[in-house]
Formats: sequence, structure tokens, C-alpha cells
Amino acid sequence: MDQLRFDGRVAVVTGAGGGLGKAYALLLGSRGAKVVVNDLGGARDGVGKSNFADAVVKEIKDKGGVAVADYNNVIEGDKIIKTAIDNFGRIDILINNAGILRDKSFTKMSEQDWDLIQAVHLKGAFKTTHAAWEYFRKQKYGRVIMTSSNAGIFGNFGQANYSAAKLGLVGLANTLSIEGAKYNIKVNTIVPTAASRLTEDILPPEMFEAMKPDLIAPVVAYMAHESFPDNGAIIDSTLAYATKTHFVRGNGAPLKKKPSDPVTIESVKENWSNVVDMNGAVHVDKIADVTIDLVQKLQNFEERAKLDGDRESYWSTY
Ligand code: NAI
Repeated sequence: MDQLRFDGRVAVVTGAGGGLGKAYALLLGSRGAKVVVNDLGGARDGVGKSNFADAVVKEIKDKGGVAVADYNNVIEGDKIIKTAIDNFGRIDILINNAGILRDKSFTKMSEQDWDLIQAVHLKGAFKTTHAAWEYFRKQKYGRVIMTSSNAGIFGNFGQANYSAAKLGLVGLANTLSIEGAKYNIKVNTIVPTAASRLTEDILPPEMFEAMKPDLIAPVVAYMAHESFPDNGAIIDSTLAYATKTHFVRGNGAPLKKKPSDPVTIESVKENWSNVVDMNGAVHVDKIADVTIDLVQKLQNFEERAKLDGDRESYWSTY
């Protein structure tokens, strides 16, 4: 296969001074993209500032690539996009990767722990993407990657703030993938698991050694490429393996036996095992399909009731 290249493309990678972001920036830089290496350079909990990004820029340049450092906080993401425009005149790829942790059990979690995590992950991605969006729309091209986490999708003890923000990013990607589609803007989400300073005390040591960010970078780079086919996908990757995650919706059940019956707490309880039965669950592509499906099921329920003289239990006809 021909090498997938990014010549002529400008990529912004937030939080690219270390960990996963660094691996993404190096790979994109080695394939012809001009890269804005953003990093605030704080500690793992977001405190402090330094110029981590410089070393990554140097590494890209030493290998013949083009890159510029940016030290802005993603909370002021518009300034990061301005760095891309001021230096390279355009923006094509935005990888929202910057992140910090403030893990605590929910009882001990302060409002500051909550606010800071929402600000860096969720508002940071909003600010940066919002500033890039006008360029993407005008040029009818854009590739955005959000960074979620299995902690958001499945929950994880001590990460209520982080889980909320990380699943919020999936919601953001879901809607932006719809709004951007007609402008050839694709918005997808990576769910990485890799060795970094965020996971050094979480992953077992032998796994930590093996889980190199370099193994995820090709997945993210492909997701940022013009030939990437998907839009609105959640891609989970680690250890040279990738899979797709998505929500499924069960078949559901009516909460009464006949249309004329009332819905009561007891009828809800009576039907609950059918409500939560996930046999035959399907992924729903768009919100309209949820409404169409519900209307269809209710019509079936009513029609069946009329035919049977409103005497039978109809849930099985759904
Ligand atoms: P990392 O700590 O090595 O990299 C994150 C980078 O973001 C750091 O260099 C940091 O200075 C920068 N950063 C933090 N706050 C910033 C801000 N406000 N503005 C600009 N830069 C900022 O961690 P890692 O593991 O590479 O994480 C990258 C992303 O992947 C994060 O969003 C993280 O939540 C996510 N993630 C990582 C997982 C893993 O297994 N490593 C698992 C799931 C998600």
C-alpha cells in the first residue's frame, strides 16, 4: 500500500509534550504534516507550567519535519488555533488530547477537582474545536479527534469527575460529527490505553512496559487522514489492537398489557424484565430513528390490540 501522507496538512495536537500526544505529533510530523505541538507543561494534576513542547518540536525538526511549539492552556484553545494560522496559514487536523487527573472517591472530591477536570477536558476541547471549526467549514475539510476513556464509558472508582468529562467528549463528538458531515468534517473519538505518567501507578508494571503510545499513534493518525472512512466512531485501541465501541438500544417493552390499561408503578415493575432485556439490541444511527422506532412499536401495539379486541398481552408483538 502507498504510504499515507499528510503533506500540505496542518495538525494541532494538544497536550503533545509527552505521552500519547507526543507520539501522535512525531508520527504526523514524520509523514509531512506541519504540526503545532501544544502543551501547557503542567504536572499530572494540572499544576504548574513548563516548555515540554520544545523537545518534541526539536525531535520533529531534527527528522526533517516542520513544527512549532505552543504553550497555551487548552481552556484558551482559540489561542492554539491562532498559532496554527499565524505560523502555517491553515488548520486541517485537530487532536484534542490534553488531559489531567484529579482522582478521588466521590465523597472526597472537591468542587475544584470537578471544575478543573471539566475545564481541561471538556471545555478545552470545546474552545479548541470551536475556533478551528470556522476554518474547517470554509475550506470544507477537517478532521477532529476527541480523546475519551474507558473510565467514561464504563465508569471507574475514584474518577467521577474524569468519567463525566470523558463521556461528555463522546456526546460532543456525536453532535459535531452530524453538524460537520456536509462540510467534510469528520469527528471521531479515540479511547486509548497506554503507558504514560497518567497510568504509571494504575497499570501493572509488565503491562505498562508493553503498552507503548507508539502502538496507538498509527490508529489516531489514520483517523486523522483524509481517507478515513468513519465519522462519529468511538475507536478503542491499545497494544497494537483496535476495536469499535458503540451504544446499543434494547427492543424495549410496553408498560401495560392493553392500550386501555393505566401505567402504574406496579405495571412498570411487572414489565421490567422485558424493558431491560437486551436480546436483539441494536445500534441506532440517528436520533430520528429512535422516534420512528417508538412510534412504529406503539402503532403495532394499538393495531394488535384492536384486532384482538383489547383482551390480550401484547408485549411479545414488539
Ligand atoms: P500525559 O500526562 O502524558 O499527557 C497529557 C499532556 O497534556 C501532558 O503533557 C500535559 O502537560 C498536557 N496538558 C494537561 N493539561 C493541559 C492544558 N490545560 N493545556 C495544554 N496541555 C495540557 O497523559 P497521556 O496518558 O498521554 O494522556 C493523553 C490523553 O489520553 C488524555 O486526555 C488522557 O485523559 C487520555 N487517556 C489516556 C489513557 C492512558 O491509558 N494513558 C487512557 C484513557 C484516556
